[in-house]
Amino acid sequence: MRVPPTNLSRNARLSVAPMMDWTDRHCRYLHRQLSRHVLLYTEMVTAAALVRGGALHLLDHDHAEHPVALQLGGSDPVELAQAARLGAAAGYDEINLNCGCPSDRVQSGTFGAVLMRDPATVAACVAEMRAAIDVPVTVKCRIGVDDQDPEEVLPEFLSRIVAAGCERVTIHARKAWLKGLSPKENRDIPPLDYDLVQRMKELFPNLHISVNGGVTSLDQAEQLLDSGLDGVMVGRSAYHQPTDILAQADRRIFGSGVDGSAEMAVTAMMPYIEAHLTAGGRLHQITRHMLGLFAGRPGARGWRRVLSEGATRDGAGPELVDAALAHVTALAPDAKAV
Ligand SMILES: Cc1cc2nc3c(=O)[nH]c(=O)nc-3n(C[C@H](O)[C@H](O)[C@H](O)COP(=O)(O)O)c2cc1C
Repeated sequence: MRVPPTNLSRNARLSVAPMMDWTDRHCRYLHRQLSRHVLLYTEMVTAAALVRGGALHLLDHDHAEHPVALQLGGSDPVELAQAARLGAAAGYDEINLNCGCPSDRVQSGTFGAVLMRDPATVAACVAEMRAAIDVPVTVKCRIGVDDQDPEEVLPEFLSRIVAAGCERVTIHARKAWLKGLSPKENRDIPPLDYDLVQRMKELFPNLHISVNGGVTSLDQAEQLLDSGLDGVMVGRSAYHQPTDILAQADRRIFGSGVDGSAEMAVTAMMPYIEAHLTAGGRLHQITRHMLGLFAGRPGARGWRRVLSEGATRDGAGPELVDAALAHVTALAPDAKAV
């Protein structure tokens, strides 16, 4: 299979990981204010919620979020194809299948990381989704689970999903241990193996492979790209330090565009916040994702404190964001970072 020469493959050079309860539409809108090119992912949405539950509101997003991929959870090819069709019709640029999430809830539904044990089912899901929609179908997976030997199972897994029509893959470069570790521990304790992901790139030179796991700076993302990988997906660091990861990404990773800044992002969020409040939304639903914007900068603590203490109060509005911003801008540039 050849890497399709779409812009989306290029956008996938840097992406923000799907994260439940974190990468909701407000978070994605914020991240988009920091980078025009980075590929954004939704939280995982189960195919059953869309198809059987009719929860189509889970697909709501803003036009400004593009390019944006919908991540689906499930293991029933027919249901996933229906969900993929709904996602594509809602305007998503890519549909991604979750084969990496180890949570109990997800294991009981036979999807997520447990699917690493069943490449035939994953291939059937990919093929069915591929046949249903025109936008790319991609997979996010682990290097293996439990006692699997990744050197053995990962090439087999990848060749089957590629044969089924998977156009890109993101590999979280650590195993998931399905028994005994919480989902949170499963993001830290199993060791990272970037070398293995590199070897997969050598084995599958025409497959667009993104690596995920433990990337904490744009420098590190650049090094991984320089080492021959096609993309880097950043999760927690992009959420906690969005400015560090995203504000220089357009220039440094995509070679076009100017650097953003936390201040510019705040200014750009104001009309969005106003519109959300006018529609009956609450301030904290948006500002909870903005707490890390000034991470490491003087006044960051004041920014976080004002927003976390005030944004849940009835009637909280944009003036609270201005008050929080004053903590950052009032401080001299050489003031001690807090
Ligand atoms: C709060 C949270 C929620 C997550 N939810 C999902 C999810 O819905 N789907 C998924 O594939 N991975 C999910 N993940 C895993 C991330 O996508 C990513 O693989 C993981 O955090 C490792 O990347 P990082 O070290 O850059 O954070 C989640 C991670 C976090 C921290």
